[in-house]
Amino acid sequence: MEPIPELRKIRTGIPGLDKMLKGGLIEGRPYLISGGPGAGKSIFVMQFLMQSIRKGEEALYITLEEPYDEIRQNMAQFGWDTRQVRILDVSPEAGTKEGSDMFSLSYLEEELVQELRRHPHKRVGLDSTSTLRMLEDHPTGGRRRILSIMKILTEARCTSLIICETNDNSPSMEGFLARGVIKLYTTTTAGEKIRAIGIEKMRGTSFDEHIRPFTITDQGIVIAADEIAFETFK
Ligand SMILES: Nc1ncnc2c1ncn2[C@@H]1O[C@H](COP(=O)(O)OP(=O)(O)OP(=O)(O)O)[C@@H](O)[C@H]1O
Ligand SMILES: [Mg+2]
Repeated sequence: MEPIPELRKIRTGIPGLDKMLKGGLIEGRPYLISGGPGAGKSIFVMQFLMQSIRKGEEALYITLEEPYDEIRQNMAQFGWDTRQVRILDVSPEAGTKEGSDMFSLSYLEEELVQELRRHPHKRVGLDSTSTLRMLEDHPTGGRRRILSIMKILTEARCTSLIICETNDNSPSMEGFLARGVIKLYTTTTAGEKIRAIGIEKMRGTSFDEHIRPFTITDQGIVIAADEIAFETFK
């Protein structure tokens, strides 16, 4: 009988998060990052990818939404030189390549498989499944696509963060498919924007079940892993 491979955790590079995750994310699995508009999802994912670059490993950001030059500009605000992060730009602004439909999901899958064959990416971010689902007419088709992309990423041994935009608290199908779900919350108290983060599920490990406050600083996301978030978050 083959031995069962041991679980290995990797550090996220997000201050406070590894403590909440009891050491980091289990390597080689897909995770979901959910939150509303402006919650910090894209920053979160890029901060995770930058940790790979710091370690001399390759990382990939798949964007179906923001054009990559805007992402690079936004992330430069945190002192991150994202030029080493490879980008697979399938955003509407990327235009249509001759002979192929840029917006088709089959195109995305083919490009992704080829990209992973050429580059041994340790970490991958995908922004976002909401766009992915918009491109698929049928709900079951969307589910199949997300499953298929998660499978491609898992087979290539990537630890991946998949962004899911949410506006309410209804459980998403992506959440059931992912090995773990991290939620970013925002609320306004006395005219001030309050942010918080919670781990909703994480297969294979125990984790901090409290919702913790976080801020977006000039160095990115910083979680106060020892503080309690006093506001009520949905
Ligand atoms: N340099 C900065 N310092 C502090 N906060 C910032 C800075 N840059 C951006 N932010 C905050 O981060 C938010 C954007 O973060 P991000 O782009 O990660 O959100 P998102 O969840 O991906 O949003 P969307 O759903 O629109 O894609 C801004 O709305 C702003 O509040
Ligand atoms: Mg975003």
